[in-house]
Amino acid sequence: MKRTRPDSHHRRPWDPGNLRAADRPDRSAARRLAAALLCVAGALGSGCGGQPQALEPAPPRDLALLELMIKLQALHRGMEPVLRSEAHLPQLAEAARGIASLASDPLFEGWVRRPDFQRDPTRFEAFRVHLLDSAQQAAEAAEAGDRERLHRFYAQIDGSCVACHKRYLETY
Ligand code: HEC
Repeated sequence: MKRTRPDSHHRRPWDPGNLRAADRPDRSAARRLAAALLCVAGALGSGCGGQPQALEPAPPRDLALLELMIKLQALHRGMEPVLRSEAHLPQLAEAARGIASLASDPLFEGWVRRPDFQRDPTRFEAFRVHLLDSAQQAAEAAEAGDRERLHRFYAQIDGSCVACHKRYLETY
C-alpha cells in the first residue's frame, strides 16, 4: 500500500533549521551586540539610534514526530473497543498494518539524530523495532483470524508505547 504523507514529513527534523526554539543557541543577542559596537565605531552612520531592533522570531518547534504520534494514537485507540469483535478482524488488521507503517517512518531515526540529543539512541531504536514487530504480528494474527494471538500482540504494541515514553519523554 502506497502511503501519501503530508509535506511536513518530508522535512528532516535534524536539520538545524528545524530544531526546537529552546534547543538553539541564542545568537541574536550576540548579533545585537555586534551591531551596537559597529554603531559606536560610527561605521553605520545614520542607521544607529533609531528604531530598536526587533527580536528575531523564534523558529517554529518541530512537530513532525508529534504529528506521527497522534496518528499512532488514533490507530491504536481505534483498535481497543473492537478488539474482541470477530466482525472487525479486517479493520483490526488494517489498523495494525497502519501502526507498522508509521513505526517504519524515518522520523523516528531523525528524532535521535538531532545534534542536541544527548541520550542513548540504542534503546530508542529497540523500542521502535519492538513496536514495528508487535504491530506486524498483530496484523498477521488478525488476518489469520487468531484472536488470542491478536490480543497478545496488541498488548505488546501498548507495552512499547509506554516503555519508550517512560524513558524518553520528559513530560511522562
Ligand atoms: C521509540 C519511541 C516511541 C514509541 C515506540 C512510541 N512513542 Fe509516542 N512519543 C515518542 C516521543 C519521542 C514523543 C515526543 C515527541 C515530541 O514531543 O516531539 C512521543 C509523544 C507521543 C504522544 C504525545 C503525548 C505527549 O505526552 O507528548 C502521544 C499521544 C504518543 N506519543 C502516542 C504513542 C502511541 C499510541 C504509541 C504506540 C502505539 C507510541 N506513542 C509509541 C516516542 C515514542
